[in-house]
Amino acid sequence: MSVNEADSKVLCGEIKALLKKLDGLLVAHFYQKDEIVALADLCGDSLELSRKASVSDKNLIIFCGVAFMGQSVKVLAPQKRVVMPRLACCSMARMIDSEYYDKSIETLEAYGLKREEIFPITYINSNADVKAKVAQMGGLVCTSANAHKIFDFAKAQGKKIFFLPDRCLGENLARADGKKASLLGRDSKEVILDSDVICYDGFCSVHQLFTPSDVAFYRSKFPDIKIVVHPECDSSVVELADFVGSTSQIITYVQNLPLAQRVAVGTEFNLVNRLRPKYNGTQTTFVLSSSKPQCPTMNETTLQDILDVLLALEDDKPINEVFLESSVQKWAKIALDRMLELS
Ligand code: 13P
Ligand code: SF4
Repeated sequence: MSVNEADSKVLCGEIKALLKKLDGLLVAHFYQKDEIVALADLCGDSLELSRKASVSDKNLIIFCGVAFMGQSVKVLAPQKRVVMPRLACCSMARMIDSEYYDKSIETLEAYGLKREEIFPITYINSNADVKAKVAQMGGLVCTSANAHKIFDFAKAQGKKIFFLPDRCLGENLARADGKKASLLGRDSKEVILDSDVICYDGFCSVHQLFTPSDVAFYRSKFPDIKIVVHPECDSSVVELADFVGSTSQIITYVQNLPLAQRVAVGTEFNLVNRLRPKYNGTQTTFVLSSSKPQCPTMNETTLQDILDVLLALEDDKPINEVFLESSVQKWAKIALDRMLELS
């Protein structure tokens, strides 16, 4: 056993003992480091984690992920204590706040749209203040796992959809449904008014790394390969894929393929790296990129961070606990509850 492995084993032992003593639930998103996923009581995609952690019988949630995920649990279950070993913020979620949201609506109003004619959907990768703003305009949240269902619901409202903050997911939903998408800040007023879905110009820096030439490279090398991507990828990549889904959906799809079937996956490195063992000593699972697509903020959390927040709780000097202003809490919950009712 290496020194690092021995250290990890000791840390894991201490974490488990403290979790038991404090009666906490350790929750981790699939993009977390291997040793954290291995230790967690609950792993999942954004939808599963917000739902399952909020209804768990534990009152203390130790959430390893990015800030909007821990916030979502606190929003849905305000009576629980939610503590994050790292207050790491998803770079996409940081691309919009309530002020930018208001400015976007003002721009659309200046183009001639009335507020009542706009139906906002915010991707769950946004902070609670933005979710609250969306709820106040009658809108709701979606995740990558339920985006098509929520999009169908939004279409039925007979308004223009304002999709935020991920322009790629918004464009991918519109394209899959034969609807016209436009991009606020890039497209002219005429193009925006002529579109069905107006996208905010946010994106995931990790999923931008996958390109059509990566798909072409793998298809020319292995003609029978399956291409699997997350819907945060650009539409030029999504339209070339055999399967598009949330992190959970990707895991299920790939793990149900025969081991001999080659697959190249366009999502975060830690998840792809854990997906499947080699087949007869041959690698059949590939990362759909020549560079390493690691989410810097997801990778910030370490075992030591988990131990540190637990020790601080034991000491009654909590650190990194999630708190929300009461009106943000109330409205963000409405936006998330509307989504959960439909999914
Ligand atoms: P999932 O909801 O699919 O887990 O995705 C979250 C995310 O941040 C992907 O980059
Ligand atoms: Fe945010 Fe992208 Fe990281 Fe997901 S992979 S948490 S969208 S920065």
